[in-house]
Amino acid sequence: MAKAIRQYVCQSCGATSNKWAGQCDACQEWNSLVEEVATTTPKGLTAGKGRKIDFVPLNGTSPESPRQKTGIAEFDRVLGGGLVAGSAILIGGDPGIGKSTLLLQAMAALANSGVAVAYISGEEAVEQVRMRARRLGLEKSNVDLAAATSVRDILSSLEGGEAPKCVVIDSIQTMFVDNLESAPGSVGQVRASAQEFIRMAKHRGISVMLVGHVTKDGQIAGPRVLEHMVDTVLYFEGERGHQFRILRAVKNRFGPGDEIGVFEMTDAGLAEVSNPSALFLPQDGGRVSGSCVFAGIEGTRPVLVEIQALVTSSPLATPRRAVVGWDSARLAMVMAVLDARGGLNLAGNDIYLNVAGGLRVHEPGADLAVAAALVSSLTGVPVPDGAVAFGEIGLSGEVRPVSQADVRLKEAAKLGFERALSPPAGRKKEPDLAVSEISAVHELVAMFGDAPPLRAVGGSDDE
Ligand code: TYD
Ligand code: MG
Repeated sequence: MAKAIRQYVCQSCGATSNKWAGQCDACQEWNSLVEEVATTTPKGLTAGKGRKIDFVPLNGTSPESPRQKTGIAEFDRVLGGGLVAGSAILIGGDPGIGKSTLLLQAMAALANSGVAVAYISGEEAVEQVRMRARRLGLEKSNVDLAAATSVRDILSSLEGGEAPKCVVIDSIQTMFVDNLESAPGSVGQVRASAQEFIRMAKHRGISVMLVGHVTKDGQIAGPRVLEHMVDTVLYFEGERGHQFRILRAVKNRFGPGDEIGVFEMTDAGLAEVSNPSALFLPQDGGRVSGSCVFAGIEGTRPVLVEIQALVTSSPLATPRRAVVGWDSARLAMVMAVLDARGGLNLAGNDIYLNVAGGLRVHEPGADLAVAAALVSSLTGVPVPDGAVAFGEIGLSGEVRPVSQADVRLKEAAKLGFERALSPPAGRKKEPDLAVSEISAVHELVAMFGDAPPLRAVGGSDDE
């Protein structure tokens, strides 16, 4: 017989332990263990009691799952060409970034093309969702709307009859299954609720979109476990102060990973940006020191983005390093290489690095552009000809080729750039702009002339 046992579950990684501890043994997170009641079967399973499963050959015929286009092209692109019937999609993002807005727009677009859809909100009352729909001009759309949080009620309501083809659950953290004692939002509840929705999706061929809030450190709240359970994980990201939003596929069983869709938050909702390559470029041509344009690739598309650096002498014993939109460990590495292999003295300086426009760059190919921005800020000399740059920097100071060099160069030429700093290898075609090949960081440093490596910056007294 099943019996209830108390156990402590880490809200960050889902590991369980029998006693409370200040730190989770599995993921080393502090203060994350919470008591939950679990029901287990005390005895181990015995073979021979289960139902026999049927094995089938790998090359059998299965009907191709049809893809349903949502009608929002950037959204479809990230999904890998549209919604797959019976798939479970998790959409994570900071509160207020626009998840509910995006999904309401997507549901309305689906409804307008004749697909039955439902939007279930556990966070907002019906009236609030209606108000948003009016603001977005979507109030005429045929979307079934409900405010509910009980998983049992939701599943029963979707039983039989005219079930919708696509259901949005906003958000999974507000949902609860009533045979678990723990509070909504705890790992146990989130996992159990998600499991129920995913099971329904697979059984009935309904696409389920689960909204998940992200914690401060950038994880979908508590359960990373959710990421393993669903077919597709999308992150909706962007800086609050900026209007641009990026929808990024982190995992996709039905399409390419790391594809992005770009949106702009307007006062009438999210607008698609179908050609984002010039979006994150400096407005003024960018011929100032401390700025370098990175010719990047996001998913399948080239995106040019301005990287800004500011190097100032620091009054602090431990100089400040602040990074927005890039990996700070990667910055530390580029700085160390510039120091050891390029002869630059960056220690003792405060360093600020910013990726313009609120984009987050994940590619290591941005190393060279970051290095160029740093050297440029340190010397006070703008990057020669306002060149674009790309290339990965290795620990011995070498600049390594990155993928799709031709696509990057072509886009840079198209947008009017006249020069590119690039690693020697990796090109197959002759580009329409001048290429300065850089095979090691000291060559990059030499491009900035013999300006004194460190300008005397008047010491400031703040802090
Ligand atoms: P929302 O979709 O509620 O975010 P989430 O579900 O991710 O928490 O988005 C809320 C923000 O979006 C809010 O700060 C206001 C802004 N917004 C607009 O700028 N224009 C709009 O048309 C709408 C609906 C929201
Ligand atoms: Mg919301």
